[in-house]
Amino acid sequence: MPDKSWFTHDRFGLFIHWGIYSMAARHEWVKSRELISDEAYQPYFDYFDPDLYNPSTWAQAAKAAGMKYFVVTTKHHDGFCLWDSALTDYKATNTPAKRDLLKPMVNAFRNEGFKVGFYHSVIDWHHPEFPVDGLHPMRSALDYRTASQQRDITKYADYLHGQTRELLTLFGKLDLMWFDFSYSQRDWGWSKGKGAAEWRSHELMAMVRELQPDALVNDRLEIGGDFKTPEQYQPAGKMMVDGKPVTWEACQTLNGSWGYDRDNLDWKPVDMLLRMLIDAVSKDGNMLLNVGPTARGEFDARALDRLQGIGRWMHHHSRAIYGCGASDFTPPPDCRYTQNGNRLYLHLFAWPFRHVHLPGLANRVAYAQFLHDASEIKRHVLEPGQVAQNTTMGGLPSDTLTLELPVQKPDVTIPVIELFLKE
Ligand code: GLC
Repeated sequence: MPDKSWFTHDRFGLFIHWGIYSMAARHEWVKSRELISDEAYQPYFDYFDPDLYNPSTWAQAAKAAGMKYFVVTTKHHDGFCLWDSALTDYKATNTPAKRDLLKPMVNAFRNEGFKVGFYHSVIDWHHPEFPVDGLHPMRSALDYRTASQQRDITKYADYLHGQTRELLTLFGKLDLMWFDFSYSQRDWGWSKGKGAAEWRSHELMAMVRELQPDALVNDRLEIGGDFKTPEQYQPAGKMMVDGKPVTWEACQTLNGSWGYDRDNLDWKPVDMLLRMLIDAVSKDGNMLLNVGPTARGEFDARALDRLQGIGRWMHHHSRAIYGCGASDFTPPPDCRYTQNGNRLYLHLFAWPFRHVHLPGLANRVAYAQFLHDASEIKRHVLEPGQVAQNTTMGGLPSDTLTLELPVQKPDVTIPVIELFLKE
C-alpha cells in the first residue's frame, strides 16, 4: 500500500480535462451525447491547434490558488491521446499541434513543485475493438452495431494495458493514477456494461504497483483502490466503508462540465468553491477542482477568476487546510472545524452577530485569533447557571466557550478563527 500522507496533507488539487472535445466546447461527452460518428468528429482532430498553449501559466495559476497536485486527462472516453503514444495515430502529434502536449505539461507542473497524476479513460469510443454498448456514440446506429458485433474486448484490453505501461514508464515518477470508469452493472438488453473483467483490472493494478509503487490509484477499476472519488456532490460526513473511515477526494467542476463548455453559464462563485474545499477537509477529504482549458490552450477568464479568488483566501488561510482534517469537536451551526494537532480552525460560513458559542471548549482553549491578521479574539466562559437578563447572556451549557466578534465581518471570503488548544 503506497504512502498516502502527502495526499491527506495537501488536500487540494487541480483536475484538467483537455482534448479535442474542447473544440466542440459542449462538454467532454459531446460525442456520446450528440451521437457523433468518427467521421463527423474528425474535424475536431484535423483543426486542433492550441497555439496559445503554455502549461507554465497553468501551473503558476494553480499554484497561486494553493493547489498542490494535479491530475490531467491523458486520454478521455473519445480515445484521443495527448501524448505521443506508439500504439495509436489518434494523438496530438498528428494534429496541427504536431507535438506531445503531455510531456511539457508534466515538466511545467513539476517545476512548480506539483505532485503528478494521470487520469486515463478505460473507455474508448474510437478504438476499433471496443465493443459498442449503451454509452457508445454509435449506440443508435443499428447497422454499425451489427457490423461491430465481432469486436474483441481482449484486444482492446491489450491496448489499454500497453498504453498504461507507456504512461507508467515514459514520464518519470508518478504520484497518482486516476482511471475512469467502470459500469458493469449497467444492462441495456442488447448490450451490457463493462468493468473489472473487461479491463483486466487486477493486472492493471499490479502493473501500477510494480512500475510506480508510490502512486495512489483511485477506486474506479471495480477492485477497490487507495481512495474513493465522490463526484460532483459533497459527502454528508466522513466517508465510511464497512464501518471504517476511508481516504477520499471529491472531484468538482467549476460549472458542471469537465471539458470546456462555452455556453454553460452555471459557474460556481468563489465563496461556494471555498466552502466546498473547507467542508471536504472538515470531513477528512480532499478536493480535486477541475478546469477545462479552451482549444487555444488557455484557462478562460472565468476559470482564472475563480482560481485567483481562491488564491486570495488561501494566501492567509492555507494552514487551516494543509495538514488538517476532521475534529472531534462539534462546530456551531453554519460553521466547520478543521484541525491539525492542537490548532483548531473555526470557519464561519455565515457571519453571526457579536458572539459565537463553541460547545465543549470552555476550558480547552489557550488563545484565539483571526487567522487572516492574527488579531486577538476575546473569549468568555459564562458563570455556570448564569441567568439571562438585559444585556447579560445566560442559559448556555457550562462547557461552552463564547467568542466575541466584531459586528463587521472581516474583508475575507470565509473568516477563520485559529484556536490554540491547551496541550
Ligand atoms: C465522470 C464523467 C467523466 C469525467 C469524470 C471525472 O466519469 O463521465 O467525463 O471525466 O467523471 O470525474
